[in-house]
Amino acid sequence: MIPVVSRVEMRAFDAHAIGACKVPSLVLMENAGRGAAEVIEREALGGRPRGKRVVVVCGTGNNGGDGFVVARRLASRGAIVEAWLVGEAPKTQDCQLNMDAFAGIGGRVGRVDLDGSLGGRRAVLGKADVIVDAIFGTGLDRAIEGPLARLIEVINEMAAVKVALDVPSGMNADTGATMGTAVIADMTVSFAHPKLGHVTPHGARLSGHVHVVDIGVPASLWTARSADLLEARDVRAVLLPRPIDAHKYRAGHVAVLAGSPGKVGAALLCAHGALRGGAGAATIVTWPESATALESRVVEIMTARIHEGSELTDQIDAALVHKRAVVMGPGFGTGDGARAAVNHVLSTFPGTIVADADALSLHARAIEEFSAAGGRAILTPHAGELGRLLGMTSEEIEADRFTAARTAAARAHAVVILKGAHTVIAAPDGRVVVNSTGNAALATAGAGDVLAGLTGALACTLTPFEAAWAAVYLHGASGDAWKEANADRGMTASDIADGLPGVYASLLN
Ligand code: APR
Repeated sequence: MIPVVSRVEMRAFDAHAIGACKVPSLVLMENAGRGAAEVIEREALGGRPRGKRVVVVCGTGNNGGDGFVVARRLASRGAIVEAWLVGEAPKTQDCQLNMDAFAGIGGRVGRVDLDGSLGGRRAVLGKADVIVDAIFGTGLDRAIEGPLARLIEVINEMAAVKVALDVPSGMNADTGATMGTAVIADMTVSFAHPKLGHVTPHGARLSGHVHVVDIGVPASLWTARSADLLEARDVRAVLLPRPIDAHKYRAGHVAVLAGSPGKVGAALLCAHGALRGGAGAATIVTWPESATALESRVVEIMTARIHEGSELTDQIDAALVHKRAVVMGPGFGTGDGARAAVNHVLSTFPGTIVADADALSLHARAIEEFSAAGGRAILTPHAGELGRLLGMTSEEIEADRFTAARTAAARAHAVVILKGAHTVIAAPDGRVVVNSTGNAALATAGAGDVLAGLTGALACTLTPFEAAWAAVYLHGASGDAWKEANADRGMTASDIADGLPGVYASLLN
């Protein structure tokens, strides 16, 4: 897993590097700028910097200082570089020193007068091959307004490749939100660690592809981090080989409480996701009319009937015997019977419980109800569903997805999977993992049902937290394999499930 840090954590990392490790700040800045220049040369200048036009727009803080190092490094590689200082004068010594060093090698330093018009500068930007945004990094502490905002809008209009240093200017490094206005970068070179904002849906759009460069201090020296970004090897490490004498019940039997009449497809997708995800067996536990409809369609999946009324809880108990995990909610309904079933499972089932869709809607504004599962529940909301659980709007959830997921996990005493681009998985003890797989092809009906089933399958053998993050990773990887072979659209939920064996093959073989 790759540590992902907040602004405060990044500042502490820098302070540790300078104070305890005794690496001078100027050395860190040089390493950052050199690393960024190498990425720019390779990724934005096609490996041929000579004669290419680069404009580096520098702020007066240390992000601007990084920009002056980039300017000097690219100039020494033969690029035609201008560096502009946005503001009166550098506010930090390291920025001043690097501005002077760029001027010292004959570099052209311009000053952008924020009170005047941009004048000829617009034309210079128009001719640039690359614009480097070094205006603000993690020091952004208020919304960008006035002439600075206009400068950023002009940068965004330009055809040049836009590269942001550390974070796009205007992006909140903790939440990914735009503060006033923000540079929309094609790529971002982040220093030492990715920042939380890079791995949010909004921040990822502002950042473009994120490259992380080493600044000469081992990341392992400092462990404080807000989240961990998943890598393939993390998932590989928890997927243990099956023993030679595996049998279906040891692999795990998943119960799926889902599928009211008219919504049996949700139950089917969920069970299909469980089986393709590696469950040994899946049983759909559902209302009589749905069971009748399902029995004519399914081959590998078993069904069990439950009826509303006095027998309901006994019928559920009978259906859940020997099941390792229960997935409940997809198309299940929100009537009295569904409520009684969901609450009964939460308070009695001894294995892991995945609560999705209607099982979440039944507890609007009452997320604490899930603590009845004693830490064994995994909730799988998207922002709208989590908003309803917490009594917030989906916009409020999206404004700070990490805090929302962490808060929800603590209040529910459950693992929370906050779905969306860069799905966030939070555990009740405060651990947070962010997914690195997936793409827009996954925006398709039933994708969540498959994820819930897959999570149930993995929960048969893994802890709830591991099952949750591994399922999210595998689900996204199946979408990525689809995109690779096809496009970022046209995938159905069944395709996600059917792609899982291929994902296992690429991870395990
Ligand atoms: N409008 C105008 N000025 C602002 C705004 C704003 N919206 N927000 C912050 N500032 C000012 C701050 O007052 C400060 O003077 O910008 C300066 C901070 O800019 P940064 O360069 O982002 O912050 P700093 O802490 O100096 O450097 C952090 O340095 O380590 C490198 O690139 C790395 O992101 C990191 C950066």
